[in-house]
Amino acid sequence: MTGKRVLVAYGTKHGATAGIAERIGTTLREDGLDAVVLPADDVDDVRDYDAVVLGGALYAGHWSGKAKRCAQRNADSLRRRPVWLFSSGPLDRSAEERDIPPVPAVARQMQLVGAREHKTFGGSLTAATPGLLARSMLRQGKGGDFRDPDRIRSWAHHISAELAAA
Ligand SMILES: Cc1cc2nc3c(=O)[nH]c(=O)nc-3n(C[C@H](O)[C@H](O)[C@H](O)COP(=O)(O)O)c2cc1C
Repeated sequence: MTGKRVLVAYGTKHGATAGIAERIGTTLREDGLDAVVLPADDVDDVRDYDAVVLGGALYAGHWSGKAKRCAQRNADSLRRRPVWLFSSGPLDRSAEERDIPPVPAVARQMQLVGAREHKTFGGSLTAATPGLLARSMLRQGKGGDFRDPDRIRSWAHHISAELAAA
């Protein structure tokens, strides 16, 4: 048990990224960390936390603006603690099959906050997702829930292990 406080923040439009963040938070708690999961918009100050995991959904090749603004607002404090970033996006099995590098905008945020690592997880687009574009993607067969619980859990355990070793 390390008892370190970890913030898991997420930028979402339709909830898929929140689900990933919740799973990360649950796993970190199982590993004995004191993990808090919050929408990125609600994060004013990260100084109460020993480490931060920040994730955002990908839309048209861009990371969630909510996650990006959270990184920018807290850049100074984030640089002083361990930070991990993740993206939720691909609507196929590609994220399970290989490591997908961050899109350029996320790579820039990694530099800005001195992130240790980035992970791309499969995303989710279902009939419940609102929006004309989402509906048209579904009609083209580009739907489904590609969030891989085992992969998410295993990355969270890896973060716990790094924090325990720190
Ligand atoms: C209009 C639209 C554009 C998208 N663009 C991308 C993209 O460029 N890259 C990608 O990997 N996924 C893309 N996706 C898939 C979303 O990133 C995926 O559904 C994600 O899990 C949504 O997260 P959220 O529910 O947290 O907003 C797109 C989805 C929609 C509906």
